[in-house]
Amino acid sequence: MRYMVKGEPPPPRPEGAIEPDASLPRACVIGAGSSGIAAAKALDEARVPFDCFELGPVVGGNWVFENPNGQSACYSTLEMNTSGPRMAYSDFPFGDDDYPSHEQVREYFDRYVDHFGLRSQITFNTRVERVSRRDDGVYEVEIAGDGADGGRETREYDAVLVANGHHWDRRWPEPPFPGRFDGEEIHAHDYRRPDVFAGKRVVVLGVGNSGMDIARDASHAAEATFLSARRGVHVLRKRLGRRQKPLDQLNLPTWVPWWLKQKAIEVVRRRSGDVSDYGLPDPDHKVGHAHPTVSDQIHERLASGAVVARPNIRELRGDRVLFDDGSEERVDVIVYCTGYKVSFPFFDDGFLAAPGNDLPLYRRTFHPDLGGLYFIGLCQPFGAIMPIAEEQGRWIAELLSGRCELPPAGEMRAEMRRERAAHAKRFYPSPRHTMEVDFDEWMRDARRERRRGAKRAARDGRAPAVVARAHAGGRAVEPA
Ligand SMILES: Cc1cc2nc3c(=O)[nH]c(=O)nc-3n(C[C@H](O)[C@H](O)[C@H](O)COP(=O)(O)OP(=O)(O)OC[C@H]3O[C@@H](n4cnc5c(N)ncnc54)[C@H](O)[C@@H]3O)c2cc1C
Ligand SMILES: NC(=O)c1ccc[n+]([C@@H]2O[C@H](COP(=O)([O-])OP(=O)(O)OC[C@H]3O[C@@H](n4cnc5c(N)ncnc54)[C@H](OP(=O)(O)O)[C@@H]3O)[C@@H](O)[C@H]2O)c1
Repeated sequence: MRYMVKGEPPPPRPEGAIEPDASLPRACVIGAGSSGIAAAKALDEARVPFDCFELGPVVGGNWVFENPNGQSACYSTLEMNTSGPRMAYSDFPFGDDDYPSHEQVREYFDRYVDHFGLRSQITFNTRVERVSRRDDGVYEVEIAGDGADGGRETREYDAVLVANGHHWDRRWPEPPFPGRFDGEEIHAHDYRRPDVFAGKRVVVLGVGNSGMDIARDASHAAEATFLSARRGVHVLRKRLGRRQKPLDQLNLPTWVPWWLKQKAIEVVRRRSGDVSDYGLPDPDHKVGHAHPTVSDQIHERLASGAVVARPNIRELRGDRVLFDDGSEERVDVIVYCTGYKVSFPFFDDGFLAAPGNDLPLYRRTFHPDLGGLYFIGLCQPFGAIMPIAEEQGRWIAELLSGRCELPPAGEMRAEMRRERAAHAKRFYPSPRHTMEVDFDEWMRDARRERRRGAKRAARDGRAPAVVARAHAGGRAVEPA
């Protein structure tokens, strides 16, 4: 893994690299996690001039254990819940069919960046501090760190690709539970290794994938582990059958209607077993109507009593926790696996924010009123984020180089309304569900729309989506 030390000059551009076309709009990519690097590659190949700023010294974001950027939720036992073939970019095979460990994932992104000569295009140890949009549509991007002249600088761009990740801003219970707790309270984001639970009595709150993994880890180290849920969930096993094939490789074609797919998921659910048999609440929704919770071990850990199910927390009582069923336990640590907030600290709230994680976008990528502003990887797929980010990057690169044109804003808004209504019908309301997409359907629709967009662009003279106005050199401001 290549860490760029603070102050280290960027590596040289690879020999024979294609030069960007200075006549095209200039773009800024925020972040070099798996989403940012996929977008950077697409821009590079389309010859769109761009800068990619990365807060930390390394690519891979969330998948870098103890990432010095302070934004990774990675723990020592983390493996993907999307298998190698499902998470790989289309032109860079993963090489392993199973669920990769976090080390394998991090190493894959590192190889990707070097294979496609992207490292020299990324400015490390540099934070995007502020982004604002002028009346002429140009974005002013304030950066701080190695990439900035004098430590701080404002540059102009015609387009901004936001790839800052959405699993780093901790969501704590709101409102907090009544009472006072004298033990330790941590968020799943800050959990690193099971040994922190050694000999302790632990409550894990929340039954998403963080809750499953952390309860399992705690149950191997702690004196007692309680898994507390305010709502029942269906937990699917990650590997099925004699060959233990990863669940996400049992794919149905995209033309299969949702009701039939749901029947197939129902079969998987039955074969996985019901965690409500071990004291967790019965789910109030059908399988497939929530972000998938998957685990290979939680059923056995619950069945053996190594993990004990509890309802939601009612009150914190010093060194004890009172649950909704009236039971009370002495507890040393509470781990809040209560999810994340979608945050853009570089935007003024009045310009753009996602209260309650709600940010309506066309195809989870485009804001119908803000030309030149794009979002990469800002979705919760039934499937992996990486190929979606790759597709989004290609789509945006085509728009910026005039090879594609978006539908009119009115059409985008109508599609967003339709999508929102269908979404509200299927998923129970929760901040974890505002950005849920079906992987295969999203890919199919995006490809279809790119083809339509290519025809529109050909008809209308292939003008880039935004006019290239930004000043290439950037504009220095007073150093901090
Ligand atoms: C525990 C856990 C497990 C997960 N497992 C899976 C999985 O199995 N499969 C899957 O598809 N998804 C999974 N996810 C979702 C996860 O979001 C994606 O895997 C992936 O990390 C998304 O990549 P990203 O580039 O969008 O965000 P990140 O990986 O978070 O990367 C964002 C990058 O942007 C940089 N950045 C942020 N702000 C700034 C700024 N202001 N200026 C400059 N740089 C900035 C950060 O330093 C970081 O490098 C998981 C999430 C968690 C929390
Ligand atoms: N690769 C992996 O194996 C892996 C591991 C961990 C995480 N992840 C991914 O990381 C992302 C985040 O997952 P996550 O599990 O951290 O978060 P999450 O999916 O948002 O789940 C949050 C859980 O906390 C509950 N919750 C929220 N607020 C609560 C409150 N005030 N009181 C009680 N319960 C509350 C939610 O209940 P409601 O449903 O009722 O809102 C839900 O059960 C997901 O995309 C997930 O797939 C993947």
